[in-house]
Amino acid sequence: MPSLGDKFLGFFLVLGFATVGLCSSDKSSDVDRKLSARLNPDCPEDICTPDGNALTLIHIRADSDLDTIHYVWDLTGKPTILVALTRKNASLKINWNDFMDAKPSSVQFSETPIYTFMTVINRIFQFDDPEDKGMLGNNASSVFVYDPHEFSYNRTLLWFNEKDVIAALNANNDFLFKLNAFSTRDHGMDFPHLLHTSNSTQVDIVFNNVSSKFERPRFAIELLFVVSEQAVTGTDFQITKRRSLDDEHTPGIFEIIDVLSPGAFKFSTGGFVEYRPVSYTHPERDVSTSTETHQSEPKAIEFASDALNATLAYAIYGQKLDTLVVQGMNISFGFSGDGFYTKTNYTTLTFQVGYGMPPPEQLSAFVLIVAGIGIGLPLAMLVFGGFYICTRKMRNRRGTRV
Ligand SMILES: *[C@@H]1O[C@H](CO)[C@@H](O)[C@H](O)[C@H]1NC(C)=O
Ligand SMILES: *[C@@H]1O[C@H](CO)[C@@H](O)[C@H](O)[C@H]1NC(C)=O
Ligand SMILES: *[C@@H]1O[C@H](CO)[C@@H](O)[C@H](O)[C@H]1NC(C)=O
Ligand SMILES: *[C@@H]1O[C@H](CO)[C@@H](O)[C@H](O)[C@H]1NC(C)=O
Ligand SMILES: *[C@@H]1O[C@H](CO)[C@@H](O)[C@H](O)[C@H]1NC(C)=O
Ligand SMILES: *[C@@H]1O[C@H](CO)[C@@H](O)[C@H](O)[C@H]1NC(C)=O
Ligand SMILES: *[C@@H]1O[C@H](CO)[C@@H](O)[C@H](O)[C@H]1NC(C)=O
Ligand SMILES: *[C@@H]1O[C@H](CO)[C@@H](O)[C@H](O)[C@H]1NC(C)=O
Repeated sequence: MPSLGDKFLGFFLVLGFATVGLCSSDKSSDVDRKLSARLNPDCPEDICTPDGNALTLIHIRADSDLDTIHYVWDLTGKPTILVALTRKNASLKINWNDFMDAKPSSVQFSETPIYTFMTVINRIFQFDDPEDKGMLGNNASSVFVYDPHEFSYNRTLLWFNEKDVIAALNANNDFLFKLNAFSTRDHGMDFPHLLHTSNSTQVDIVFNNVSSKFERPRFAIELLFVVSEQAVTGTDFQITKRRSLDDEHTPGIFEIIDVLSPGAFKFSTGGFVEYRPVSYTHPERDVSTSTETHQSEPKAIEFASDALNATLAYAIYGQKLDTLVVQGMNISFGFSGDGFYTKTNYTTLTFQVGYGMPPPEQLSAFVLIVAGIGIGLPLAMLVFGGFYICTRKMRNRRGTRV
């Protein structure tokens, strides 16, 4: 009989150690990829004045034992996020004079990358929404277009070590950009707490107190994607929707939207963009200060090398862009009855860009422990209760008293 009690003691000890183990493994110094970041690498002083913060191109190497993922955050023009998988010793070279003139091949890797995926913030739209639908229609007369190439950027933060890289910029004080790169798998610090790995980088955009041009204004953003996959007719980017098991990390939002490159969709090797269909309408992000997002179906971009003529994509690929898969989509913010953008003059979008497949959400240690207690505690009471009654009976039979 006592051996059962021992077993339970053992069970709880194991549970205890497991909990401690889970907690401490969060703090362990193990990194999946070791990060190293450079601001404006090898930029001559006449272009990047040393104390200036208007020009921002950040190159991050994320090295594993096997290979390297390069992230480039280019905010010298249209914000462009490059994710490139290379062998371990490939390096990135920028000819700054040519790059500033948007010449092809002004940005190059020392060897051809195994895979590249680029996301360009091509345009931002403010549109009138008289029917209060939250969707960007085709009524060109009521759309105001912002060209992010014309923004004046001001870098306000750059912080990095081998585990994290964080940069923040603001554009005309209207659009705030925050970028992150990571060394391990974890959830982001801020809402919507997206799950990231060392294979992805995160972009957070705030549409901050932008003056409205319409009576019922809303915003939308146009993203263009460039992948180093050959364009084949009938191979498109795919939007897939997943449901997470719980909403512990993003209260109220169970859905995850994955935008997969043709290669990622078909063979699980490609690039992806991932986000939750939520936009926060207040700096204190919460379920009560949020609204929805809507996206259009991805479509091919014709004359890609013209459309992207002054971007990092053109600086790397030039006219070759016309032979690659270049597609785009719009994401708009808001839904019927939310009071339009002017209700708070604040709205956000957070997304990840990465290589491979978006990481699946798993039940967290917290949920497992809560579930464990929910099942374990009644079970333990039952067994200990039975044990207690049994020993009482046995003691009574033997007639011993303590
Ligand atoms: C890069 O690595 C490959 C093998 O991994 C090696 O053959 C080559 O010499 C290396 N190049 C440099 C510049 O270190
Ligand atoms: C386009 O927008 C204008 C101004 O909001 C409106 O007067 C017009 O009816 C709209 N056209 C269509 C086809 O929706
Ligand atoms: C850039 O931001 C910093 C800090 O917010 C501010 O002090 C500076 O005046 C800004 N520069 C420009 C050109 O807006
Ligand atoms: C990250 O990328 C590497 C390719 O270097 C791949 O082997 C690995 O499975 C990816 N990890 C995740 C979590 O997608
Ligand atoms: C928003 O912008 C308006 C001018 O367009 C300004 O008067 C107001 O102070 C700004 N509000 C905030 C919170 O920055
Ligand atoms: C948002 O800005 C507009 C002007 O662009 C202003 O009319 C409106 O009152 C502002 N809303 C809030 C909540 O401050
Ligand atoms: C890119 O194309 C646009 C319109 O086609 C043109 O106005 C602009 O000058 C071009 N930029 C460069 C750097 O060639
Ligand atoms: C985004 O919306 C604008 C305005 O309706 C449209 O002209 C453009 O083609 C859309 N872009 C994509 C990639 O669907």
